[in-house]
Amino acid sequence: MKRSSSVLALFLCSLTILPSDHAIESPQYAVALLATDFEIRLYRNSIWVSAPLRGTSFEKSTEEGFHRLYQFIHGANLNATEINKTSPVVTSIAQSSQGSFKSYWVSFYLPAKIQGAPPQPNPELNLKLDERKAQCVAVRKFSGFARDDNIDKEKEALVASLDSHSSGGIVKDDKNAFAVAQYNSSHHLSGRLNEIWLKVGFPGCR
Ligand SMILES: *[C@@H]1O[C@H](CO)[C@@H](O)[C@H](O)[C@H]1NC(C)=O
Ligand SMILES: *[C@@H]1O[C@H](CO)[C@@H](O)[C@H](O)[C@H]1NC(C)=O
Ligand SMILES: *[C@@H]1O[C@H](CO)[C@@H](O)[C@H](O)[C@H]1NC(C)=O
Repeated sequence: MKRSSSVLALFLCSLTILPSDHAIESPQYAVALLATDFEIRLYRNSIWVSAPLRGTSFEKSTEEGFHRLYQFIHGANLNATEINKTSPVVTSIAQSSQGSFKSYWVSFYLPAKIQGAPPQPNPELNLKLDERKAQCVAVRKFSGFARDDNIDKEKEALVASLDSHSSGGIVKDDKNAFAVAQYNSSHHLSGRLNEIWLKVGFPGCR
């Protein structure tokens, strides 16, 4: 196993040995539209921490970004403070102007308690505190592992669902940018939840 993936596995494993009453925080949202094969959520303003990368592989970039975020929440920040893990891990993907490279942002939502005064990441980690405005996101769920060879197909399926949705009012923001949200530790082989996120305009979302 590569070093980065063992770190990922180790970290994700540590989630499951937490006491069961330890609720893992997730960003709050309201469901704006519930369709059969997708939903539209309104997420609130929130602060995330993100690892920007450029690469060719979603899986490799996610592992590498995750490794940097792992260090940040385990004290590699200017407050030297431990930060509770949140879920999901979100990898945003955009085509970059340079050939086959893509830009990836691997992100966590910061726990509510520290949203007001988030600790600065150690500079060498090259992480960004990322203030996200309230936004609407179209979401398609899928199971199994999120991989380089299945995420594009899932994204296309979401785009097709949005295009064929009859009630209208959905405006796709940018066809080529999307995100993959992963909720489970890598050692869970079944019952896994992932989502494709696509920013959309929708009545009621600003
Ligand atoms: C971390 O999570 C635990 C358990 O949910 C909670 O008691 C604690 O207040 C949290 N700490 C911070 C800094 O959010
Ligand atoms: C980090 O340190 C700054 C400056 O001392 C402080 O204002 C802030 O509340 C701290 N944040 C956390 C999460 O401890
Ligand atoms: C995966 O994560 C989702 C969302 O948190 C949860 O509902 C599901 O039970 C998890 N699956 C496993 C196998 O833990």
